[in-house]
Amino acid sequence: MPMAATNSSAAKTPESSQPVAMPAVSSPEIRGPHADRSALGGPSGSAIIPESLPGARPVRAPRGGAALTLTCKTWQAEAAMRMLMNNLDPQVAERPDALVVYGGRGQAVRSWAAFDSIVATLKNLEPDETLLVQSGKPVGVVRTHPDAPRVLIANSNLVPAWATQHNFDALAARGLMMYGQMTAGSWIYIGTQGILQGTFETFAECGRLHFGGDLSGRLCVTGGCGGMGGAQPLAITLARGTALIADTDLTRLRRRVDDKYLDELAPSIDEAIDRAVKLAAAKTPRSVGVLANAIDLLERLLERNITPDVLTDQTSAHDPLMGYVPAGMSHDQAAAARAADPTAYQQQSTQSMARHVRAMIALQKRGSITFDYGNNIRQRALDQGVADAFTFPGFVPAYIRPQFCLGRGPFRWVALSGEPRDIYVTDHAILKAFPVSGGPYAQRLHDWILSCHANPQALLTGDFDKCKPRFEFQGLPARICWLGLGERDRAGSIFNDLVASGRVLAPIVIGRDHLDCGSVASPNRETEAMLDGTDAVSDWALLNAMVNIASGASWVSFHHGGGVGIGYSQHAGQVIVADGTPAAAARLKRVLTNDPAMGVFRHADAGYPTAQACAKDQRLNIPM
Ligand SMILES: NC(=O)c1ccc[n+]([C@@H]2O[C@H](COP(=O)([O-])OP(=O)(O)OC[C@H]3O[C@@H](n4cnc5c(N)ncnc54)[C@H](O)[C@@H]3O)[C@@H](O)[C@H]2O)c1
Repeated sequence: MPMAATNSSAAKTPESSQPVAMPAVSSPEIRGPHADRSALGGPSGSAIIPESLPGARPVRAPRGGAALTLTCKTWQAEAAMRMLMNNLDPQVAERPDALVVYGGRGQAVRSWAAFDSIVATLKNLEPDETLLVQSGKPVGVVRTHPDAPRVLIANSNLVPAWATQHNFDALAARGLMMYGQMTAGSWIYIGTQGILQGTFETFAECGRLHFGGDLSGRLCVTGGCGGMGGAQPLAITLARGTALIADTDLTRLRRRVDDKYLDELAPSIDEAIDRAVKLAAAKTPRSVGVLANAIDLLERLLERNITPDVLTDQTSAHDPLMGYVPAGMSHDQAAAARAADPTAYQQQSTQSMARHVRAMIALQKRGSITFDYGNNIRQRALDQGVADAFTFPGFVPAYIRPQFCLGRGPFRWVALSGEPRDIYVTDHAILKAFPVSGGPYAQRLHDWILSCHANPQALLTGDFDKCKPRFEFQGLPARICWLGLGERDRAGSIFNDLVASGRVLAPIVIGRDHLDCGSVASPNRETEAMLDGTDAVSDWALLNAMVNIASGASWVSFHHGGGVGIGYSQHAGQVIVADGTPAAAARLKRVLTNDPAMGVFRHADAGYPTAQACAKDQRLNIPM
């Protein structure tokens, strides 16, 4: 049975926490807390990001001999520069010319001029200097020390009572702010591969919880085949299910087919449904995409009385202007409509989200296991009067929180050499460090790493020349692998040794999504339905950023609005470089212990027994 609703609509009303005092409004365009906070969108269409921005050109991190050569004064600065370039690599970013990396309008930097300035500054940055980046623009360099981060980034942050989409759009339209999403503005996005294991973990847990094993023979329906959502079809098939996915943009669907994330495209909604139903009946783990609005797909399923086993959605509903396509519009019609009248567009967009959620609830009532996949679509529907929008749970309380209680989350690493072989070497080292005898999660970890390989036997025997990826690397070769407290620091130390001994050709960059165990405050997503009701407390996200700075991460970021949109989240990111030196080894130990420890502290404090037991096992010092 679908999980019970975990939220009341009252808990989802930010107004309830508004201050009483009315500060003066600093600009006629910027609305203070006395204004209508539900209003969306800026005063003009100029917040719309065009297809291409001045100065656009293809960029990618260096390869070959150039990849092995240090061009900055430290590998930390070099890594930040190359990861920024990698974020904008056409293989990685969804709309690189517009600096848009993924997630609606999530950008890497504010302008191409800012990109050039950041690269030039990093090239000259001394080992005891730190570059400051404010919403994608380099604004200062300060003298710090060699163990301090080389870059500190703050993106999209607004004072809480001003933190509305309207105010953000007004400032973005004037070129004063940028939406950093989570890993776009913090330079550790690695393409759809970066979310694949997290998406797999979610669907695999869904199979274990609701279907007594895997998703074999189950029809899983969803929408949104973009930067992150594009991981869904492959993740579902890895969990042995049949996927049916709708997207309004044919180029996105084709891109996932080319990258082997999506198996096939059907010419119409009915043909897509027929094909997917047949594949599910035959227990064939395969994915079918269709060019359609997700609403049309769901309403057709209702009309035909076909009930998916699993139902979710990853359209960019967090962004009613640049992300979501209203019912009845093609991709091109949507582009024209948002440019012509952004306010009207957003009204149509949010009204469509209400219709979308109503269709999801109707299918849930017929038996679909339904969950929100982190795009805030329930909140938009609730704002439009769908009183039972929160009837279905978010994916974190439904499937992921037990992992967060162990400090486990989306650990990822990237080979700066550009050589896939370096990733195979690290994969092999991870399998050896965490043998299957370590318990059920170790078995899942092995299954995951081996499933990333077209020739798993070659990996198991360490025959790296015969290794091949099962799905394409995007940009620099990278791997994602959920590891917890006590595991991440071990992996970091192993990678540093591999660099020091020359078994990999160049330093390894280690980072994570902001969607992690102790780095986010997001009441409709990562911190939904916390045991002690602290869903909206963002002290933890701030402490996480501070802990990573104090511990010596190579770059640290603090963002607002990622995943669920402006006003709904605050979150921190960290990235650290394994360059093979003893100094890096000490930093890796500190950062990769303290960062996941924040997840255990956060969940132990909220009263989760698993986190309290983990804190005890790992001898964390919790004063009270
Ligand atoms: N759950 C997670 O782990 C997670 C992680 C990151 C992002 N997200 C959220 O998931 C959403 C998708 O992220 P993304 O990076 O894939 O975004 P994206 O902007 O790259 O892709 C969104 C896709 O949705 C399509 N789309 C928009 N409206 C549609 C509609 N009505 N019907 C069908 N297709 C439609 C677009 O054409 C686009 O291809 C965002 O809201 C993001 O914040 C979730």
